Amino acid sequence: MEQNIKEVLVTEKELKEKITEIGLEITNDYKGKELLIIGVLKGAFTFMADLIREIKIPVEIDFMAVSSYGKSTKSSGVVRILKDLEGSIEGKHILVVEDIIDTGLTLSYLVKNLESRGAASVKICTLLDKPERRTASVDIKYKGFDIPDEFVVGYGIDFAEKYRNLSEICVLKEEAYS
Ligand code: IMP
Ligand code: MG
Repeated sequence: MEQNIKEVLVTEKELKEKITEIGLEITNDYKGKELLIIGVLKGAFTFMADLIREIKIPVEIDFMAVSSYGKSTKSSGVVRILKDLEGSIEGKHILVVEDIIDTGLTLSYLVKNLESRGAASVKICTLLDKPERRTASVDIKYKGFDIPDEFVVGYGIDFAEKYRNLSEICVLKEEAYS
């Protein structure tokens, strides 16, 4: 696994420090509110597991799994819901936790979808952001790191379902794709 890594973009220490910071912000911003944290499977699961332990107010968690239609074609931003929430979100404050925002199509759809279900608020927390690639605008409330337009893996994020178990955010060598 390690021999396929070209570069470490974000180290374990940097991840930990940033997540502690974001957790504190969320703790302060949502005091006294009913907060439901929604993780977008699968990529966000590692980030979410670490993040919720840095949040010091009561929270509920749930997960969604989505897939974009026609990733390589010009997507209309239509997203298929593979796994939906367990319960109603009416009147709840929602924080969507995502691994990476790339074009923004997935999350712009998801936010609209959740808002239409009567949530009190819907905000986004993403670990990574590739701002160069944005085509749909998304309002990011909490962000870990901006990264260049390179394909990354690790810390929950995969290439063809592998590499999620790396502890750092890494760039793969070209030959690992072929
Ligand atoms: P988008 O913002 O709708 O383009 O989709 C973002 C999703 O694409 C992320 O949640 C990831 O699942 C996937 N993705 C984008 N960039 C990368 C990457 O560098 N490595 C792995 N998955 C990525
Ligand atoms: Mg994702």
